[in-house]
Amino acid sequence: MAKDFVVTPWKVEGDIDYNRLIKEFGTEHLDDALLHRIKKLTGELHPFLRRKIFFSHRDMNWLLDEYEKGNKFYLYTGRGPSGNTHIGHLVPWLFTKWLQDKFDVLLYFQMTDDEKFLFKDNLSLTQTNSLAYENALDVIALGFKQGKTHIFTNTDYSKTLYKNALLVAKKITVSTTKAVFGFNDSNNVGELFFTSMQAVPAFLPSVLKGKNIPCLIPHAIDQDAHFRVARDVLPKLGFYKPAAIHCRFLPALGIGGKMSASEKDSAIYTTDSADEIEKKVKKYAFSGGRATIEEHRKLGGNPDIDVPYQWLSFFEEDDSKLKKIHDDYKSGKLLSGELKLILIEKLQVFLKEHQRKRESARKVLDKFILKD
Ligand code: TYM
Repeated sequence: MAKDFVVTPWKVEGDIDYNRLIKEFGTEHLDDALLHRIKKLTGELHPFLRRKIFFSHRDMNWLLDEYEKGNKFYLYTGRGPSGNTHIGHLVPWLFTKWLQDKFDVLLYFQMTDDEKFLFKDNLSLTQTNSLAYENALDVIALGFKQGKTHIFTNTDYSKTLYKNALLVAKKITVSTTKAVFGFNDSNNVGELFFTSMQAVPAFLPSVLKGKNIPCLIPHAIDQDAHFRVARDVLPKLGFYKPAAIHCRFLPALGIGGKMSASEKDSAIYTTDSADEIEKKVKKYAFSGGRATIEEHRKLGGNPDIDVPYQWLSFFEEDDSKLKKIHDDYKSGKLLSGELKLILIEKLQVFLKEHQRKRESARKVLDKFILKD
């Protein structure tokens, strides 16, 4: 089959066929029966679930079986600090926060400053480490519970992490890392080792508490390769396989692929000003509108390819508002420029508040950080 898109932890490109990814990666659809089961426990469904933005999973039924038996899980997610946080990163984190609230569980949040040093040519370890603490402010700003949320960078929590990464590393051959991640002989040896570090928080609380605790990892589907390896290795070390729940990518502002922190014009960062938001959306957002107003009024726009509409489908929580925008755009009643203004306002309001909380987070950062 022709490969017209790529999804790996380090590269996401092209027009992604998410159903094909489910097949190729061997994950499962997040189907209506499972959504129903989640709703029974949480009382409502997050818009990301209702809209199938979270679309795939591994072992969610097992995780909920354990939960119903009284065996509570913890959450694990993370960030590779290569730059400022963009609003695509917030997608799995917003959902993780919702899960923490609904299930009242602990969160372990890994900042892979080692990864970004190893995989990027232009970043020093000092830079990735300080970016990690800047990114941590965004995590805290989302409202994760103090005392129940532990954020750590791999280099500043290395004594604990390294000992456990060794257990994983010993069970992974070079040929496995080549097959799973596509590495070749020119990759540096740190890159080959790195997946062992990303595996550790998937069982660390079990080590710390001296008993096996189920783990749920919310993330976008690009990180799945790491957890395929972790799921293979962890039972060999006597731990549970981690469960996972996967989201789609918030698209880049221009056409194709996911939003990337290294392409500045394709992303809105959490630190962007109201003016920057307006400028970027107006200038770069790919539109599904027609060439002229007359044509648009007559034929209508195409919300399926329109990036401002796609973004609203992530961030406008009100289903009826979203439907009206969709229908008005499709019928030609709503123009592309007007749709962009709706998005701009939504982002400006959200980010202004986020930036305020992000600054207050500096005062409590220490309370969230694990170091050794
Ligand atoms: P990173 O920094 O590339 O991404 C952080 C999280 O955001 C997700 N993501 C997106 N989600 C929606 N739309 C997008 N456009 C988008 N871009 C990125 C990623 O899937 C990820 O969940 N190696 C990891 C850091 C990490 C981690 C983890 C991530 C360590 N442990 C456990 C998830 C779970 C990384 O570089 O993520």
